[in-house]
Amino acid sequence: MRDLEKELKEAFYWFHRHPELSYEEYRTTKEIREILTRHGIEILPYELQTGLVAVIRGEKEGTVRALRCDIDALPITEETELAYVSEESGKMHACGHDMHITAGIGCAILLQERRKELQGCVKIIFQPAEETSLGALKILETDVMDDVGCIWGFHADPTNEAGTIGIREGYVTAAVDRFIITVKGIGCHGAHPDGGIDPVVTSAAIIQALQSIVSRNVNAFHPSLLSVTRVSAGTTWNVIPAEAVLEGTVRTMEREDRILYERRLQEIAEKTAQAYGAEAQVEWIPGSPATINNKKMADFCAQMAEKTGLSIVPEEHSLGADDFSFYEEHIPGCYMKIGTGVGHPIHHPAFCVNPEVLLPTAEFLAELLITPAM
Ligand code: NI
Repeated sequence: MRDLEKELKEAFYWFHRHPELSYEEYRTTKEIREILTRHGIEILPYELQTGLVAVIRGEKEGTVRALRCDIDALPITEETELAYVSEESGKMHACGHDMHITAGIGCAILLQERRKELQGCVKIIFQPAEETSLGALKILETDVMDDVGCIWGFHADPTNEAGTIGIREGYVTAAVDRFIITVKGIGCHGAHPDGGIDPVVTSAAIIQALQSIVSRNVNAFHPSLLSVTRVSAGTTWNVIPAEAVLEGTVRTMEREDRILYERRLQEIAEKTAQAYGAEAQVEWIPGSPATINNKKMADFCAQMAEKTGLSIVPEEHSLGADDFSFYEEHIPGCYMKIGTGVGHPIHHPAFCVNPEVLLPTAEFLAELLITPAM
């Protein structure tokens, strides 16, 4: 086994055994720093609480490119039989970010070894808190991206075999927004609804009507959805409460649909409530935008994947999210799915990554970053 392969596997087992939640990735950051430093890789002096940015400066002229690797784990109790099972109770690398860290480290080591060939400069961003959808903003608060021309991102994909890569141009993940609707009525005795205004019945009407946005307002060729995921009202069986709270999420691909949902949600909630004599207040909490792969980068990525022996599969569209899209608000980007062996889905307690993908992924990423894509 090549020394690097052995080193990457050992690092991966360590990260898997020591998962840390969003914004708490202190030990993870320390470990990444130690490995990179051992290989003489420069770490930029940003004062990030967690996460870090490594830089590899090539000996040839060229642009600055970035690679994003997210590093946080999830509050899930692991149910695998792996020899390197999580040692932190209730925490698990169930989204493969341990693989992202390790492949990013491998890529950094390979680029450092190939500095003579490297055109320009590569920044490898070990980003905290992707699972909150907002970790990317911590990186964007610094000036690290100011000189970067394009950014690459990737994710472990348990729907495809090891040795494959999913690539597509255009939309790959959705914009993710959250809403909270507070319906205010007038509480009263359960036997005398005529004496109050029932926010529960009003909420039921609002929930039904909200589904008409996707079926009646949005262009039928645009994927999108709205889910009401939490309904909360009342404390007992014989009292009509004064208030109900509905919470949920909207997923869209097109910017215009995101605006449309926000407007229609407000109108439907407020006017339906009004029709029932109640009042609704809507809070719209914007999350990360949709991830859109740049065509030139996607084409270049396919070439490099072929060159390093990966088989290309079509990347699935998903109404899931990745805060990678925040970087793309500033510069072109491309987000790929690395096949990690078919098995349980991400965020499942038995999810696992085949460690055989570590070195090939690192080699592919190094090839992708050693020359400018555009
Ligand atoms: Ni993830």
